[in-house]
Formats: sequence, structure tokens, C-alpha cells
Amino acid sequence: MRPFYLPKYLLSDVSRISVRSVSGGSPGGFVFQRRTGLNAQAVTIEFADVITTPPAAVGTGKSSRPTVRGVPATVVTGSSRGIGKAIALRFADDGYDVAVNYRSSEDAAERVADEIRDRGQEAIVVGADVSDSDAAARLVDAAADAFGGIDHVVNNAGIDQHVRTEDLEPDDFDRIMDVNVNSAFNVTKAALPYLRESADEPSVTKVSSILAHTGAAIECHYASSKGALLSLTRSHASDFAPEIRVNAVAPGHVETDMTSDRTPDEKREELAAIPVDRYGRPEDIAEAVAYLRDATFVTGETLNVNGGERMG
Ligand SMILES: NC(=O)c1ccc[n+]([C@@H]2O[C@H](COP(=O)([O-])OP(=O)(O)OC[C@H]3O[C@@H](n4cnc5c(N)ncnc54)[C@H](OP(=O)(O)O)[C@@H]3O)[C@@H](O)[C@H]2O)c1
Repeated sequence: MRPFYLPKYLLSDVSRISVRSVSGGSPGGFVFQRRTGLNAQAVTIEFADVITTPPAAVGTGKSSRPTVRGVPATVVTGSSRGIGKAIALRFADDGYDVAVNYRSSEDAAERVADEIRDRGQEAIVVGADVSDSDAAARLVDAAADAFGGIDHVVNNAGIDQHVRTEDLEPDDFDRIMDVNVNSAFNVTKAALPYLRESADEPSVTKVSSILAHTGAAIECHYASSKGALLSLTRSHASDFAPEIRVNAVAPGHVETDMTSDRTPDEKREELAAIPVDRYGRPEDIAEAVAYLRDATFVTGETLNVNGGERMG
């Protein structure tokens, strides 16, 4: 069993955890009764396993809210590359175990998992096309099995395609919707029972886009999918309250593989429209997702992270 990190404040904070009984002697143990969540759960923790100062594994970030299994866990879809990778690493920095998901980039996903383990957290790698509901459920169940539960979900997996409507095939329209919208529904639905059990102020964050607001002439299906994610965010925020908060982040132009096809002229044009005079970095979006994870009075919101390209 891993050492159970029990911050000293929890020893006396009976609103979070109440000590039902303490057995003396050696080996002794605490029996804790979780008060949060729908199902109360008793957990016995051996004295030998309890430490009251944060181990390196908990990280130096914001997570100081261990669950009864010791470390909270998150699923980040599409985390082999780009923004999803940055989010996965940020969660690891903040003390979360992470399920890394990919569709085809297995080696890259394994490298992300190694980076998470280097940070002292646990990681699993699950290849799953999350537009498929069975595959999405397999991802979620694998994470719950590995970590003993799921506390946060980030619906990040997404694809785009540049094509005007007159040349856009209905199958391509459907594919974008499947990967960008249906995947968020699939993974969130599968994770719901686990999130409802979480004692870590659970949350879901969906990665939308600035194009949800502006539309896009050469990618109407992509922009529509990102708009749908914002409606899904608000719907889920109402549906899952008060236990689970649901928010969205809407990035502007971020330097990843998705935007690597720009010509120098296109880059100049895009940069001219960004007041902070730089592209976003994946870490900028990860910072916003971490904020939404921790902001316990924020739900149903969209956080725009676009360097001022679209204000308000
Ligand atoms: N980059 C931007 O400027 C920008 C702006 C606004 C919003 N966004 C959104 O941010 C998210 C991440 O974008 P990015 O720029 O980081 O893209 P990226 O570099 O192309 O990475 C996309 C990630 O999604 C995964 N993925 C794609 N389809 C999947 C599927 N069906 N099932 C599971 N995983 C799948 C990919 O896995 P594989 O590696 O296996 O292919 C990869 O990990 C997307 O939702 C995107 O729409 C990006």
C-alpha cells in the first residue's frame, strides 16, 4: 500500500472526515467515515501507512485535497500531444494521478506517462477512440480500476479540418462532431458514477475554442462542434449540480500540431489579431484548466484564453 498522506488539518476537521474509532496498540489503525459523496465509505488506515507531511508524490502544486485512497485522479482525453499533454503534466505537477489517452500516438502517450511518473504520480496509458462510446467506457473503467476512482475529467480530444461548406462531405461533418462533441458526452457519461463518488470536489472541463464564438468560414463543422461543447457544458453544469462542477475553456490560437500548417503569411496575419503579440502555449491552457478545477464557486462558465483576440 502506498503511504496515505493525511494533512494535519484533516485530523481535526470533522466536517471532512470523522474518526469513528481509533484502535490503540501496534499495529493500530484509524477508521474513517467519509461524509461527502452519496455513499458513505469506511476506510481503515494502518498507522504505519499514515504520514502527515506531503510526500514528493503529492507535488508542490495546488492539490491538498487527498481522497481516501490518498491521491486524486483525473482522465485527460487526447493527452498524447499538444494541449492535452500540457494538461496531463499540469495535473501531475498539482498532485494528481493521470489516465493518458490517445487514439493513434501510442509512443508519444507512453512518453507523457513517463513524464508523469518522473513527477512522482501514477499514470496509465489507454488507447481509445473516445468518439466510440464503448471505447470511452473502457478508458474510464481502466482509470477507475487503476486509481480507485476518478475525481476530474478533461474532455480535450479534438480534430479539425479546413474546408469550405461547398466541398465539405457529410461524413466529414459527422466525424468532427463525433470526435469533438460525442466524445465529451461519452466520456463524461461513463465517468459520472465515479465523479459522484469523489471526495475531491469533482469537476469536468471541456476544451472548446474561440471559434465557438466567432464561427469559421473554412471550418464550419469544427466551429459548430466547439459551440455545441459550450451548450453541453452549461447543460451538464445544471444536470450534475451540486456535486460536480462543469466548465469550459475556449483557447485562441495555440502552438501545437493542430496549428503547425500555417504559412508565414498566415502566421503574420493571425499574430496581428492577437493583442499580446504571441501565440498561446499549451501550458497557458493547462493553467486555465487547473484554475477551473480548483475554482469551487465557478460552474457552467467558459474561460476565454486567447491573448485578447476576442475580448468579453
Ligand atoms: N491548437 C489550437 O490552437 C486550439 C485552439 C482552440 C481549441 N483547441 C482544442 O484543443 C484540443 C487539443 O488540441 P491540440 O491543438 O492539442 O491538438 P493536437 O496537437 O492535434 O492533439 C490532439 C490530441 O487529441 C487526440 N485525439 C484526436 N482524436 C481522438 C480520438 N478520436 N480519441 C482519442 N484521442 C483523440 C490526439 O491523439 P493522437 O496523438 O493519438 O492522434 C492528440 O492527443 C482540441 O479539442 C482542439 O480542438 C486547440
